[in-house]
Amino acid sequence: MASRTPTIIDLLKADHREVEELFGEFEKAESDTRHQAMLASQIGQALTIHAEIEETLFYPVVLNELDGEDADLICEATVEHGTLRGLIAGMNGHDAAQPMIQAHVTVLKEYVQHHVREEEKELFPKVEKLGLDLVALGERMLDLKQQLTDEADDMPPSARSSTIRVAEVSAPASAR
Ligand SMILES: [Fe+2]
Ligand SMILES: [Fe+2]
Repeated sequence: MASRTPTIIDLLKADHREVEELFGEFEKAESDTRHQAMLASQIGQALTIHAEIEETLFYPVVLNELDGEDADLICEATVEHGTLRGLIAGMNGHDAAQPMIQAHVTVLKEYVQHHVREEEKELFPKVEKLGLDLVALGERMLDLKQQLTDEADDMPPSARSSTIRVAEVSAPASAR
């Protein structure tokens, strides 16, 4: 990224890359179920915070400026966030040694790829032409992200929306 102050679009794209890296690390972790469980929790938290930021700061502002099929993009993206949350919630309730965690992460990854492609290829280019103060929105995004991250870190693991039962992972490897 150049030395200019980042816009909200730069920051949202950086979040997308960060989550893609976590998905890559998850795949590389292969048989290390404990590490995979931690990565799955990180993926869940990162996506939950990202979706919250978009729905609080980005989608409503943009929706005000778009109409017709362009506005439909925001409605569809909001519906897709609902599905993402469902998949993240679905990772809970399984202990990480189960193949169900891997199955959820695999489906989540495909779904996120589709969602991110639509945002970056269709939505963001339209938003960049609207004349909004995207730098100011970027500053607000950084504040909100810090606040949401602090809140998530302060929560006991059992209360988090994206927590895999890592403690149960050390269950006998003989189960495999
Ligand atoms: Fe999104
Ligand atoms: Fe996004």
